[in-house]
Amino acid sequence: MKKYIVQGAVLASLGLLAACGNTGKNKDMEKKIVVDPHSYSKPGEALIKHLDLDLVVDFQKKKLSGKASYAIEKGADAKELVLDSRDITISKITLNQDTAGVAFATGVPDEVLGTPIIIKLKPETEKVTVYYETSPEAAALQWLAPSQTAGGKFPFLFTQSQAILCRTWIPVQDSPGIRFTYDAKVTVPVGYMAVMSASNPTERSADGVYTFSQKKAVPAYLMALAVGDFDYHAYDDRTGVYAEPATMEAAAFEFDETRKMLDAAEALYGPYDWGRYDLLVLPPSFPFGGMENPCVTFATPSIIAGDKSLNSLVAHELAHSWSGNLVTNRTWNDFWLNEGFTVYFERRIMESIYGKDYADMLSVLGYGDLKLTLAEMQSTGQQDDTKLKLKLDGRDPDEGMSDIAYEKGYLLLRNLELQSGREAFDVFLKAWFKDFAFKGADTEEFLAYLDENLIKKSEGKVTLDPKKWIYEPGLPDGFVEPTSSRLQKMKAMADEFVKSGADKVNLDSLSSHEIQFFLRSLPDNMTAAQMSQLDHKFHFTARKNSEEAFLWLRLSVINNYAEAFPALDKFLVHVGRRKFVKPLYEAMVKNPSTIELANQIYEKARPGYHSVTYNTIDEILQWNTRQQQ
Ligand code: BES
Ligand code: ZN
Repeated sequence: MKKYIVQGAVLASLGLLAACGNTGKNKDMEKKIVVDPHSYSKPGEALIKHLDLDLVVDFQKKKLSGKASYAIEKGADAKELVLDSRDITISKITLNQDTAGVAFATGVPDEVLGTPIIIKLKPETEKVTVYYETSPEAAALQWLAPSQTAGGKFPFLFTQSQAILCRTWIPVQDSPGIRFTYDAKVTVPVGYMAVMSASNPTERSADGVYTFSQKKAVPAYLMALAVGDFDYHAYDDRTGVYAEPATMEAAAFEFDETRKMLDAAEALYGPYDWGRYDLLVLPPSFPFGGMENPCVTFATPSIIAGDKSLNSLVAHELAHSWSGNLVTNRTWNDFWLNEGFTVYFERRIMESIYGKDYADMLSVLGYGDLKLTLAEMQSTGQQDDTKLKLKLDGRDPDEGMSDIAYEKGYLLLRNLELQSGREAFDVFLKAWFKDFAFKGADTEEFLAYLDENLIKKSEGKVTLDPKKWIYEPGLPDGFVEPTSSRLQKMKAMADEFVKSGADKVNLDSLSSHEIQFFLRSLPDNMTAAQMSQLDHKFHFTARKNSEEAFLWLRLSVINNYAEAFPALDKFLVHVGRRKFVKPLYEAMVKNPSTIELANQIYEKARPGYHSVTYNTIDEILQWNTRQQQ
């Protein structure tokens, strides 16, 4: 685990303690001050309102270089602007239109939070410009070799800023409670396409220069850039998909229900506020399933299953256009406000397009994950992290990214819906998105709003205590669990297999979710003969659907089914999505006979993973310690 210490003394000597907030005297100031343990910025003094970026992308040196100019808003008596940065080299900082640089101070670098940059302001300062370049190791950036792309001919660059990695490619006030609009000019090698979380091109530029504009204020974690050999396919005048030429046909087919999803989302919770909604299919090393960058969701190609069976991920990232991008968790301790709401919204979108049965299957699969996560966290003494309200102060916010925010958050909202009635709940949610649009919200504001706008109005119908869900570990007594009759049948089928073999098991014409549930319902103590019987009948080792392949490969490790190990090797070298990669290495490390295999595969796979993924796997395999020995 990465450790870092924020020393009071160091902060005090930098005059940064006030950033921690609670000393503000005047009421207005107090309101503005965001108490964010993961940012050094002092929003009560000076706030970024607009960012102008001018960057050059250098694939040879693996560097971005250029300048970032900020239009700032100052509080009374503002003396300095404090920016977050990590692994960034600054050559000059100027004020207003001056060309001469000014002196600036930097704080003690912290492995996770990075280095605060402290810029003294003059009374007349309205604009600050930072000239800088990134390091080839910048954690947000992944510079892919041509061999890591579908086309195999051109390098590719993408960013992943959430949670606090924006500061590794832009010096910025990197706190989800601080929002700014932006314009950008990005120069790339001629012939390459570029997109950002903003208005985007649909054609490649002749000179490699692209301009972008995001007119809605966004937090830094939604800053995004991707550069590579990819094209655009429009579905209609506001939805479409960017993909490498080699992937385009499959991508365009897989996601062509995006339009319907957008219509369904708007019908539920009000107009979409961001202009176009496009998808960008990234190379397989992308560490997440999807990332809700405004205007263009970044997505893993591992959801291209050929039959649209994994496209609830699109509904999820689209839903973030409301929960997250419009109403944003104020700090990472309130992460469940982003993800729990989004999972709820995602399932409502899926329900309105594919029906209740389908959405129920998603909920039951999610609930299965939640129960496993809760059991695991309870056994390892991480109960505090099973509360919805997190305490990530002094830790990497990445540690808060678990099924708790997603699935426990979902369950709270679903149970509120069941008690208040859907109609009342939808009125409530729609108003929440409207009243908090383009603002940050914390858990306590949510609780007050919930009380006022749903619980009090429900005339006693809402009896659950949201505080129990939020401030207590685990799951409270007496909530309604998700159920799915279709998935119940799959559990029965798995039991039947254990009892009497594969003869009576029939998986024909089942959905991917049913097959996933069948695989999840199989026990952890099967014999190689049982595994082989299943494999020969259903060809699991050869499956292309990434969710099914993942579940099967995990079972293969746990049950020592060595015939699947070449496929496991291939999967792990190809796919960098942490949700798959992490449990597979964990399973290999737990089983004494696959520890060596884990290390062999990781040696090959690690250079192809994004930092988000290799930092996690390094810990599981104690790779850092090993390298230093
Ligand atoms: N915003 C998240 C991804 C994220 C969370 C990145 C925290 C960094 C820190 C995104 O919306 C997400 O939840 N992705 C999921 C997909 C989803 C369908 C649950 C993923 O990547 O698996
Ligand atoms: Zn999400």
